[in-house]
Amino acid sequence: MPVDDDVVNPSDNRPFADILNARISRRNAMAGGLAAAAVGFFAQSGVADAAKGGQKGPNLPRPDQGPLLGFTPTPNPGGPVPSISQDYEYQVIIPWGTPLFPGVSDIAGGRPASSHDQERQVGIGHDGMWFFADNGSNERGLLCINHEFGRNSHVLGKGFPDSLEDVRISQAAHGVSVVELTKNRGAWESSTTSRFNRRITPNTPVVFDGPVAGASYIDSEMGNDPAGTVNNCANGYTPWGTYLTCEENFNGYFGASEEFRATPEQGRYGFSADGFGYGWHVFDQRWDLNKNKGEENRFGWIVEIDPRNPGAAPVKHTALGRFKHEGIALATGRGGRVVGYMGDDQRFDYIYKFVSASNWKSMRARGKSPFSEGTLHVARFDEDGTGEWLPLTIDDPALAARFTDQAELLTYARIAADIVGATPMDRPEWTSVAPNGDIYCTLTNNRDRMEPDAANPEAPNSNGHIIRWRDADNHVGTTFEWDIFVLCTDILGKEFEFTDPDGLWVDPDGRVFIQTDGGQPTGNNQMVVADSDTEEFRRLLTGVTSDEITGLAVTPDRRTLFCNSQHPGNGDPTRTNFPVLNDEPDGKTVPRDATFVITRKDGGIVGS
Ligand code: FEO
Ligand code: CA
Ligand code: CA
Repeated sequence: MPVDDDVVNPSDNRPFADILNARISRRNAMAGGLAAAAVGFFAQSGVADAAKGGQKGPNLPRPDQGPLLGFTPTPNPGGPVPSISQDYEYQVIIPWGTPLFPGVSDIAGGRPASSHDQERQVGIGHDGMWFFADNGSNERGLLCINHEFGRNSHVLGKGFPDSLEDVRISQAAHGVSVVELTKNRGAWESSTTSRFNRRITPNTPVVFDGPVAGASYIDSEMGNDPAGTVNNCANGYTPWGTYLTCEENFNGYFGASEEFRATPEQGRYGFSADGFGYGWHVFDQRWDLNKNKGEENRFGWIVEIDPRNPGAAPVKHTALGRFKHEGIALATGRGGRVVGYMGDDQRFDYIYKFVSASNWKSMRARGKSPFSEGTLHVARFDEDGTGEWLPLTIDDPALAARFTDQAELLTYARIAADIVGATPMDRPEWTSVAPNGDIYCTLTNNRDRMEPDAANPEAPNSNGHIIRWRDADNHVGTTFEWDIFVLCTDILGKEFEFTDPDGLWVDPDGRVFIQTDGGQPTGNNQMVVADSDTEEFRRLLTGVTSDEITGLAVTPDRRTLFCNSQHPGNGDPTRTNFPVLNDEPDGKTVPRDATFVITRKDGGIVGS
């Protein structure tokens, strides 16, 4: 996703006294032995031992006892076609515009004919996703996939909509798809006849849950019913089998007056006169904040979708806070609580975690969502390698002095996080929980950082880094220990160099899959796999000109992995015709966001 270019954090949260020394010592620790640092820094305290549950070494036993990374890495040649390790192969499925229902045609190198069609076709901007297997099947299941964004030039073939119908096409290209996939004679395919196929768009009816549900903060001036989800970036998935889609740069779809933008509440979320130039507000007043104030507070949430129940409305879970949600990684913590780790992707914004009020199974047995009640926290990273989760509740007198109630606090969670002194980070993107309990988070870059601090040790941070931490008390505690897994500047010039880490997943063996979104030192955006133990890295896949590699899902046996090329060629057919593989782009065949299905040629676990 193109970055939301504004910096909107006005707070002065700089909790570090001796930032430069901290930076040097931390970088020396990394340079002095990555593997030693990986095992060493957590081993020093009882907090870490408790979190580890007595387990020795970072990784669980794995089915194939070989080294974690056995594949031959691919170079990064750049250009209009992808490249993959010689030990792997890929198939491409569900490109933008693939029909999901009968009577609709494939866009096949063109653009959607109508909003009626696009509402029945796979959207654009393929991003976070998850595969919900049919009873553990490795050959059949439901893929839930986000459609983060689509430029007008790509979706409509012009810079600005001319009509409400144009806006409806653009809206229908956004949202989420649920697509039933089956593997037939070695090839994965979708169909137009699955009863589970579904499109969720910015116009699909939704419901609210948690403290903000029913509160006046989400009343809209026009009185329209709550509908839709937008800028669905990364994702999560729950232990009870549902999908979580995360609303990131929702501000970009609204038009707002100067007066509105000047309010402290909305100023903190970065609205502008014309959003990102989609023009929705010109033809659809719902998105015009000169006419429909309140609508903006209906976005910026985490949204739950039950893929097995196509009739159920998506649920916006307000207890998890309103910010520019990149993704959510879940763990089951002490007492069976569900814990969600979340990044807010903007320069100098924060990392959050939600802890459910009680055991998720008992909450569900009582008919309650585990996300309906619990505590939202925000992270403060201290220079000594420890940190604290600061609760964001109206019981805190400093927050009670600013907000009327918990609903208002959650609606403006960024402001609450400013007040409690959270650490401003270098654009927190994806989070993932490793099998040993470590939590990893990509910090993609921050060109506006002028002063380094321990957790964000480069200023400006042009290349990004990955931080990781381990919480006390099996994810439920309020303290943690942290270190930097990789500072991308440190690996420049190496065979596997990468920058701008974004998509992230740690597999059950401890392989760290890292996907990039930004100008790479050479070639295209890519997916690299790391061994979290030895900190060896290998490049598995590279994308095509001007795309980003994002989204990651696996079959239960992990012998099939799905990931995406988003915005190939930025929609320009002179740069690439992907998924049509022309070494010389023809200038006509419009490139399509699409999903790679990646397998090892020998049938092994993907990443090995
Ligand atoms: Fe949608 Fe922060 O990437
Ligand atoms: Ca992203
Ligand atoms: Ca990104």
